[in-house]
Amino acid sequence: MNVIVNGACGRLGQEVCKLLDGTNLVLAAAVDRSGGEGIYTKLSDYTGPADVVVDFSNHAGAAEVTAYCVERNLPLVAATTGYTPEEFGMLEAAAEKIPVFQSYNMSIGVALLARLVGQAAAIFGGCDVEIVEAHHNRKADAPSGTALLLADAVKAKRPDAEYVFGRSGQHKRQPNEIGIHALRMGNVVGEHEVIFATDSQTITLKHQAHDRALFAEGALAAANFVVKQPAGFYHMDDLLGP
Ligand SMILES: NC(=O)c1ccc[n+]([C@@H]2O[C@H](COP(=O)([O-])OP(=O)(O)OC[C@H]3O[C@@H](n4cnc5c(N)ncnc54)[C@H](OP(=O)(O)O)[C@@H]3O)[C@@H](O)[C@H]2O)c1
Repeated sequence: MNVIVNGACGRLGQEVCKLLDGTNLVLAAAVDRSGGEGIYTKLSDYTGPADVVVDFSNHAGAAEVTAYCVERNLPLVAATTGYTPEEFGMLEAAAEKIPVFQSYNMSIGVALLARLVGQAAAIFGGCDVEIVEAHHNRKADAPSGTALLLADAVKAKRPDAEYVFGRSGQHKRQPNEIGIHALRMGNVVGEHEVIFATDSQTITLKHQAHDRALFAEGALAAANFVVKQPAGFYHMDDLLGP
């Protein structure tokens, strides 16, 4: 299968290109606006064989990448983060014509964690839920998008849940709170822990990322999945299956 990697010179793009070796997938074209030897600077410069586009570039390129995929009738794995509502709308519009797989976290382990969190939230309806995430000291945003994704998985089962970001001062915990706490330290790749506590027991579900290759692995699994699908909008839960 021929894969076009957009954003191929970036951290994640390079991981995807590295991982392609030794799989059933072939790097058809490496595209990145920063250019370089053997790199196409624009998607439209490449017209050769292709079965899927994996995009780890930048959300601002949404118009270009969706237009290219629709024009060539190619499935798209949209792995960049930070889409504006307008850009996200471009993905949705493209999904009416081609298969589009989108996730802000391509880790299969995190997708499994989110599913387990939803199950735990349903089973332990009234318990206290706290989410703790840790990342390296260079991360600018807090809490992580993944912590919010996990909170959303709880809220899907407990619609009255209110997110409380960190705590200080004199406030008693309300039963419907989901406490969300961000640690920033050292070189931590990414850790997410969801704690469910009743008066008699505590259940902790935790995912630890050791290497950002996990996102590239998930993106290639998504590529293998999406090439077999009809036009539509797909997410990690579709990849996990029932
Ligand atoms: N879904 C997930 O699981 C997941 C996980 C981690 C990261 N991400 C997201 O994936 C994206 C890439 O992350 P990264 O850490 O690899 O970033 P990065 O190191 O900055 O790499 C992005 C690369 O794409 C290039 N680029 C930017 N706009 C482009 C465009 N319109 N067309 C072609 N190439 C373009 C950049 O060139 P310049 O250097 O010239 O800007 C850079 O080489 C980000 O949006 C990040 O948030 C997603």
